[in-house]
Amino acid sequence: MPSVLITGANRGIGLEFAKQYSAAGWQVIAASRTPLAAKDFALLGYDVTEMRYDAMDDKSAAALANRLKGRPLDVVILNAGIGSGPELAPEAITPEHWEPIMLTNTFAPLHLAALLEPNLKLGERKVLATVSSLAASMSQYKVPGQFAYRASKAALNQMWRSLSVDWKDWGCICLPLRPGKVSTRMTNFDGDLTPEESVRGMRSVIDSATPEMSGLHWGYDGKVVPW
Ligand SMILES: NC(=O)c1ccc[n+]([C@@H]2O[C@H](COP(=O)([O-])OP(=O)(O)OC[C@H]3O[C@@H](n4cnc5c(N)ncnc54)[C@H](OP(=O)(O)O)[C@@H]3O)[C@@H](O)[C@H]2O)c1
Repeated sequence: MPSVLITGANRGIGLEFAKQYSAAGWQVIAASRTPLAAKDFALLGYDVTEMRYDAMDDKSAAALANRLKGRPLDVVILNAGIGSGPELAPEAITPEHWEPIMLTNTFAPLHLAALLEPNLKLGERKVLATVSSLAASMSQYKVPGQFAYRASKAALNQMWRSLSVDWKDWGCICLPLRPGKVSTRMTNFDGDLTPEESVRGMRSVIDSATPEMSGLHWGYDGKVVPW
């Protein structure tokens, strides 16, 4: 069966990816900082392996890659992320506010993608997805503030664009995905979409991914998000 690794798989969008792939019979590696709740683990199919992963800890990324050495991965979904927290005026933003957001949302996905490159090369589908956001779009996002968050996701998109060029020769399909506004803890459960609806859409983009789609920002609705 095909295999997928998902980060931040213990709740929200990541948990829903784990549920849907597991129900579809995939081998699922649920990589999270917080263990899956027993009730959620029971809902998943049998072929789910939990592994520890903390995006703020280089050593945990290296340990995860080490455990997976030699194992093919068809799809990798780097989903773990954090918001900006309470809105801050530009003059109130400090390095202490900025750093964890950029580390978690921007540096960590690139770092883990690099560590898992050998696994993706061994996989058949070679899809490297990450959960980005409309907040990354220069032309489409009109909401004020959220400085660190939108910078982190815009940089994430730019890195996936770079990877789509750098890793084109071995067939890697790099997909930054826009989930829509989803009812999860990040949005205080006040979204336009349920995790089930959003993930169903993003899975359909991943399932139909072709090399021509690599390096573009794809919405859960199957449409390209303008930069
Ligand atoms: N919800 C939306 O409307 C929306 C819109 C656009 C983009 N997104 C993106 O979608 C992704 C998932 O968000 P969500 O809506 O599902 O929010 P969520 O329910 O708050 O889930 C966030 C996930 O990221 C994990 N995470 C945070 N920091 C981590 C770290 N240092 N190491 C490992 N895991 C970490 C959390 O794990 P813990 O439980 O251990 O904290 C949790 O599993 C994020 O990248 C977010 O930016 C969401």
